[in-house]
Amino acid sequence: MPAFTAQAPAKIILFGEHAVVYGRPAIAVPVMALQARAIVRAEPRAPHGQVRLIAPAIRLEALLEELGADHPLRRVVELTAQELGAAYLPACQIQIQSTIPVASGLGSGAAVSVAIIRALAAYLGKSLPDTTVSAIAYEVEKIHHGTPSGVDNTVITLRKAVFFMRGQAIQPLRIGRPFTLLIADSGIPSPTAATVGDVRRAWEQNPQDYEALFDQIADIVVQARSLIEKGVPHFLGDLMNRNQELLRALNVSSPQLDHLINLALQAGALGAKLSGGGRGGNVIALVSEGDAAAVARSLKEGGAREVILTTVE
Ligand code: PMV
Repeated sequence: MPAFTAQAPAKIILFGEHAVVYGRPAIAVPVMALQARAIVRAEPRAPHGQVRLIAPAIRLEALLEELGADHPLRRVVELTAQELGAAYLPACQIQIQSTIPVASGLGSGAAVSVAIIRALAAYLGKSLPDTTVSAIAYEVEKIHHGTPSGVDNTVITLRKAVFFMRGQAIQPLRIGRPFTLLIADSGIPSPTAATVGDVRRAWEQNPQDYEALFDQIADIVVQARSLIEKGVPHFLGDLMNRNQELLRALNVSSPQLDHLINLALQAGALGAKLSGGGRGGNVIALVSEGDAAAVARSLKEGGAREVILTTVE
């Protein structure tokens, strides 16, 4: 029986998380070393329209209708079938394999959605434009995040670095010169919905101060874009450190993340910050090639569960 497979990468936010939810820009890049994969196989002997989902990473094996109506996997399958004009799907099994850690700011939810959307479209002999793929993934992100900015589904669908602003046309980012980042997983799961919700409550109580912090983050994002496009990425380190200070002021860092960031800087990183929702999840560090191994070692010794090296190009 043929299998229809699609993959989607992880992503990291380089600059601008949280402020992006409030209409400021953010820069995000794909991480091709980590991928979610969906494999759809027809099950001709199964009852008419039966869809079985198998996702070992979250220990899930269930029929579609056994999942709650708001389950992200059920939503993505149903929305995709609807978009493809299929009243029901020919009986099949959808298997999900992913190397992207869950709830750590790497966009695993959006990557799984994008992989499923494309694999299901292929199964039905169709393909969907990127805008539609991204729009469906965005609908599902709402279940994960509450009020997502849309940056995850966009960068993961396009597989390209983007300068992203809510409600505006996507601006792909030209990388003037490749640069190297370490992504260190703190091992602390931190659902993005929680930190996004906390920031929203704090903003509601103190809109002026929070708007001012978002504006300062926006300035950093605009400067970072210019450095990346001009091909002088080594100057990004200082901007990362300043963005991290502002994330601390938003109260989305944590002692563990600050500890990893300090270790990276002491070991020679040019700059470091949390990436994504914060509290837990990942920190990213900008490194020169010569210092990458020492910084990675220091992060591991300091308790990072995993350290991934990625080149932004
Ligand atoms: O935790 P992540 O990587 O999914 O990123 C969340 C980024 C936020 O700006 C905090 C939220 C959003 O929807 O953009």
